[in-house]
Amino acid sequence: MINIQDFAKLTSRYQIHTLLAATNVKKICEVGVDHGWNLTNLCKCKPELAVAIDLWDFSPYYDFYTKEFHERNYTEIIRRKIEENDCIFPIRLDSIKAAKIFPDNYFDFIYIDASHDYESVRNNIEAYWRLIGKDCFMAGHDYLDGHKEIPAEKLRIKGDPVRIEFGVKRAVDEFVLKNNLELAVINDENGIPSWVIQKK
Ligand SMILES: C[S@@+](CC[C@H](N)C(=O)[O-])C[C@H]1O[C@@H](n2cnc3c(N)ncnc32)[C@H](O)[C@@H]1O
Repeated sequence: MINIQDFAKLTSRYQIHTLLAATNVKKICEVGVDHGWNLTNLCKCKPELAVAIDLWDFSPYYDFYTKEFHERNYTEIIRRKIEENDCIFPIRLDSIKAAKIFPDNYFDFIYIDASHDYESVRNNIEAYWRLIGKDCFMAGHDYLDGHKEIPAEKLRIKGDPVRIEFGVKRAVDEFVLKNNLELAVINDENGIPSWVIQKK
């Protein structure tokens, strides 16, 4: 049996699959997939189904990404599905619309990593909480608030650093408080924490 604070002992979000394997998860979901590097790591827990939800298209938060960038990422997800992980099921749709497709308690694990402004994160957590099974975990990236200058190469683009707003910590902390949940934080060695909560 995994305790939520076992996540806090990890030194990278790319180790999450070890705990998912230990809880024998079958259906996972990532919201905000990009080219699928994190999803590929999650798939090491060998789920039967890995739903990959992304617009792979313009969104106001990521206005520095081009149409070509999104097309390349979508093509890469299809390649990963064909060549690496047949369990991947891409859904090219707005995250809030995509959440409506699934019944209550459908997933064993959900990772939220789409737009990182306060409202988007709050709306995604609320829309996807219904889809998480009892005792299962929801997690997400960039447990941060405030504005940060992100180097272009980290965003896989060329040019100057991009100033990005984060409201993830505020959205998660509010949800934790409102629902009387326990929070675990993965202090990733690259300096960007992930958050984890559990449905009781
Ligand atoms: C930070 S990237 C995801 C990175 C990925 N999780 C990883 O760690 O490898 C964020 C992604 O969220 C997607 N996104 C932004 N807003 C969205 C929305 N409303 N619905 C679906 N996807 C969205 C973007 O297209 C982008 O690919």
